Parts: sequence; structure tokens; C-alpha cells
Amino acid sequence: MSVSITPIDPARHSDFVGLVSGIDLRQPVSAEDVAVIEAGMDRFAVLVFRNQPIDDDQQVAFGRLFGPLEQATGDLAQGADRRLRMELNDISNLDRDGKLRARDDRTRLFGLGNLLWHSDSSFKAIPAKYSMLSARILPARDGNTEFADMRAAYDVLPEEERASLHDLVCEHTQIYSRGVLGFTEFTDEERIRFAPVRQRLIRRHPVTGRLSLFLSSHAGAIEGMPVPEARALLRDLNEHATQAAFVYTHRWQPHDLVIWDNRTTMHRARRYDPTEIRDLRRTTLEGDGPTVAQTH
Ligand code: OGA
Ligand code: MN
Repeated sequence: MSVSITPIDPARHSDFVGLVSGIDLRQPVSAEDVAVIEAGMDRFAVLVFRNQPIDDDQQVAFGRLFGPLEQATGDLAQGADRRLRMELNDISNLDRDGKLRARDDRTRLFGLGNLLWHSDSSFKAIPAKYSMLSARILPARDGNTEFADMRAAYDVLPEEERASLHDLVCEHTQIYSRGVLGFTEFTDEERIRFAPVRQRLIRRHPVTGRLSLFLSSHAGAIEGMPVPEARALLRDLNEHATQAAFVYTHRWQPHDLVIWDNRTTMHRARRYDPTEIRDLRRTTLEGDGPTVAQTH
């Protein structure tokens, strides 16, 4: 069996979102397969693996083949409140006992921030490389995840606009993105943990050399620009970058694993019935450096 990757929707996107076949993630994955997947990520930015009924150990082991994993310090639930180990972000509406969280549960409401377009861990000084999301339990309907191609969105910007954006640096924090939904109560500890970080607005992919827009719901300010002007610009760019032509909608099937490159894509969850269980678990690969250190 050898791994192969083809465009999932060739009529709409020839180089965005690949469907991976010929691999069983419960079995050892060879270095050759890892290299094919990495090359596939560089081309497609999002890869879909169907029918991979992996457990947490297998998910963590697969993730480590691609580099060091992030710790889930961006989750609201920490310590004894956590359901999952620190190598797994808990993308679910369950509490540590596996029970559905109440409508007004603080961790659930914080997690609704995933409904806004974002790039994972853009609120960390070194933002994430890949995210790997495994679907364990799904609601009967809804709860899709959408992905937007930030390379394609950058490529069609007029040259003068690209030049005006090229050296801008944004401030990203989960305090801002949660505030957009009206979630504003944070403890002193959380305000320290979620302190703003600086990220370039235009970043270069280290392997392909392609430039892309580095947008995220966490970005609420641009250095050297009045706040209302910065937010208006960011809104315009987000509207541009998430138009239908750049978006793929993933309709989850049980045991899907979807991998995306946070350096070149944004994603968002879509709403679903909060009385149904939705349990997805995410491993996240550490990025290789701060975007503000990029030379170009
Ligand atoms: C994530 C995320 C979206 C979803 O796992 O990082 O944003 O649809 N998930 O759950
Ligand atoms: Mn996310």
C-alpha cells in the first residue's frame, strides 16, 4: 500500500485540499509516507484522511512524526479541569467527566470562538505549523469546518495593495477574538496567559517561498495604525480572503482526520445543535519561529 494524494474538488481547487488514500494511521507510518504527506501539505495546505479510527495515543504518535507538538496552553480548561492530555486540544462540548457542557458553561462559550475565521495559535509568539483534527463523535447534522486559502487570497491582491501590507505587524490575542462574541470576563491569570503577541500580516512559507495573508480572528490591532483604521482594514481583508472562491467546506464523517497548514490557511467551525455531542481532538505542530523574525 502506498500513499497517494489527489485534489478533493478538482473542479474548484486544483491545488487546495487533497484527499489522501493508501494509508492506515493505526499502523506504523514510514519516513517515505511522511515525506509524501509533507509534500502534499506544501501543495494543498489541507489534507483529508477518511476512515482513520485512531485513539489518542495513535494521534499523538502520528503528530510527532512531523515535529514537536504544541501544549494546549490556549485552551481555557487547564489542570484538573482538562479532559484530555496537554498534547491534545479539546475541540468538544464535553467536560472532564465526558458530560455535555451546559448552555452557559464558560469553557463552552470560550470555545465558540472557533466559529470565527482564525489560524490556530496565532495568539502564541511562535504560531502553529500544522493542526491535525480527528473526528470521534459528530452531531447528526451541521458542524462543518470551512477552510480558506490565504495564498490564493494574497495572489489576487493588486500589486500596490500587497506593497502597502507587506511590512505591517498585527497584535493577536484571544482576549480580542473572544471579545468579538461578547466574552469579556477573564481572570488575571488568563490575561497574562493570553497577552498579545506580534505577527506579520504577510508571511512567507519556508519551503515553497509563497507569500500569504496571515489573518486570524485574534488580530485586533496593527502597529502604528489607529485602532479603528486597523480593524476596518482587517475586516476588509478577511472579507476578501474568505470569499467562496477560496473556501472549501469539510463535511465530517466519523474517523476523518483533517490536517491543515496554519501558515497558509484560515478555518472556522460552523454552528450545530448544542444539545448534541461533538467530540473532535486536535494535535498541533509547533511552528519554527516568530513571524516577525522572517527575512524577505
Ligand atoms: C480547531 C478548530 C473547528 C471545528 O480544531 O482548531 O478551530 O470545526 N476547529 O471544530
Ligand atoms: Mn482552530
